[in-house]
Amino acid sequence: MRAPIWTKEDLRRLVQREIGDYRLVVVSNRQPYVHELVDGRLTYAVPAGGVTTAIDPLMQECGGTWVAHGAGDGDRLAVDDRNRVRVPPEDPSYTLRLVWLTEEQERGYYYGFSNEALWPLCHNAYNEPVFDSSHWRAYQEVNSEFAKHVLDEIDGRPAAVFTQDYHLALLPRLLREADPDILTGQFWHIPWPNHEIFRICPWQDELLDGLLANDLLGFHLGDHCNNFLETVARAGKGRVNFEYNMVSRGDDLTLVRPFPISVDFDQINSDAQQVEVDEEIQRFTQEWNLEGKVVGLGIDRIDYTKGIPHRFRAMGRFLEKYPEYIGKVVLVQAGVMSRTDIEAYQQLSEQIDHLVEEINGRFGREGWQPIIYMPTDLPSVTLLALRRIARFCIVSSLHDGMNLVAKEYVASRFDEDGVLILSPFTGAALELTDAVMANPYATEYFADAIRDAVEMPLEERRSRMIRMRSIVRENNIYRWAAHLLVDLMQGTRRSRRPFASA
Ligand code: G6P
Repeated sequence: MRAPIWTKEDLRRLVQREIGDYRLVVVSNRQPYVHELVDGRLTYAVPAGGVTTAIDPLMQECGGTWVAHGAGDGDRLAVDDRNRVRVPPEDPSYTLRLVWLTEEQERGYYYGFSNEALWPLCHNAYNEPVFDSSHWRAYQEVNSEFAKHVLDEIDGRPAAVFTQDYHLALLPRLLREADPDILTGQFWHIPWPNHEIFRICPWQDELLDGLLANDLLGFHLGDHCNNFLETVARAGKGRVNFEYNMVSRGDDLTLVRPFPISVDFDQINSDAQQVEVDEEIQRFTQEWNLEGKVVGLGIDRIDYTKGIPHRFRAMGRFLEKYPEYIGKVVLVQAGVMSRTDIEAYQQLSEQIDHLVEEINGRFGREGWQPIIYMPTDLPSVTLLALRRIARFCIVSSLHDGMNLVAKEYVASRFDEDGVLILSPFTGAALELTDAVMANPYATEYFADAIRDAVEMPLEERRSRMIRMRSIVRENNIYRWAAHLLVDLMQGTRRSRRPFASA
C-alpha cells in the first residue's frame, strides 16, 4: 500500500493543530532572501544551499519569524526599525528578522569556526580543520547575539525555536538558560562525524553542552544520529538510551532522530513544465551548440566536499577509454562560488580551472568541448532548463548529509527520462537506489558509470526514473517538516516529564 502524499495544505492543517498559541521561530545563519542594491534599486536573491530550499516552503505555510544574518548590501534598507521585513518579497507570508554582524565577527564566526573548523570536521573530505581561539570567541559572541534577537522576538510568550545547522550550536543552551519553557529543536544539515574524529575539537564539551539543550536534535540519517549518541556516550556528556535514541543530562532530555530532508516535489515538477523553460532550453542549446549531443550536468556550490575535480577526472578518463564519444558528450558544470575568503576554497577554484583547461585542451575539437564550466549564479529558469536538457546528472560528493541537487534533478524530470549518477557517500544514496552509483575516488569505475549512463536504453532510464520520482514525491519536504514538527511539539512536550516515563 502506498503512503499518502503530504501536501502544502496538509502541512498547513497540521501546523494549525500543533502550533496553537506557540510562536514558531526559525533561526539560521543564511537568510532565505538577500536584499541587494542593483543600480540604486532594491532587488533580492535566493541564496544557494539546502537550508533555504527546505525551510522556506515550511515557513510559507507556517508563518512565524525567521531570524538570520543580514549579509546583503540592501538588507538595512529593506527592514523596519526592529530589523524585520516580510517575505517572500512578492507574496509575503512570514517575517524575516535580520541580525547584523561586524566584519570581524563574520570572519571569526562564519568563515572561521563554522567553515574552517566545523565544516571540515564533520565531512570526510580530508581537509584539516583549523581551530583558532579568536574564531571560537567570535562564534560564542555571535551565538549570543542571535539569542538576544530570538528572545526579543519571543518576548516571554510560549514559543518553539527551530535552529538550523552548525553555525548555531551554542544557541539552544543560551535560550534554555534565559527561558526554560521555550521548546528547542535543531536540525544539523551536515553529517556528524564519529567520536574519534569529533574529539579533536578543543571545544567539544561546549558544543555538546549547547546541542544537548535541544529537546529535539535531527540529522538526515540514522548513522549520523548513532555517531552523535556514541560521541556523547564516549565523551561522558550524558546518559544515552540507545533504545529510544535519547540523551538525559541533568534536567535536559534530548531526542535524537533522523529526518531525511527533501524538496518541494510538486513545485519543481510544475516549474519544470513552464513555457519559459522550453524557450530557455532552445536558447541554451543553440548558444552552446548542444543539438544532437548527449549532455551531462553538475550543479554545485564550489566546495571541496562536492567532488568536482573527481568528476572532471572521470570525464577525462571516460573520453580516453571510450574515444568514440569524443565530440558527442558534453558535461555542463554550473557552479555557485562559495566561501571565497577561505584559502581552501580559493585553491579548489584554481584546481577546477586548471582541470577544465587541461581536459578541454586535450580532447576539445573545433565547435566542441567536453566541459562547459559556468562558475556563476545562473537564473532558476536556466537551471530548470539544464536539468531537462541533461541526459544524466552527476552528484559526486565525497561526503554529504543529503545533497538536494539529486532530488531536484529527479523532481524536474516530469518526462520520466534521465539518469542520476550518484555518490554512495551522500544521504540521498540511501533513498535513490535506482541511481547509477559511482564512488568519486574510483576514477576508473566512475568513468564506466558515465558510459553506462550514456548508453542506458530509454526503457531502463524510464523505469529507474519512475521509481526515483515516486520516492521523492512521497518523501517530500512537507512530510519532512510534518514529522519534525510533530516530534518537536508532541514528543518533546511529553519528554519534558522524567526520563523514566518516556
Ligand atoms: C550547506 C549548509 C547550509 C549552508 C549552505 C550554503 O548546505 O548545510 O547551512 O547555508 O551549505 O553555504 P553558505 O556558507 O553559503 O551558507
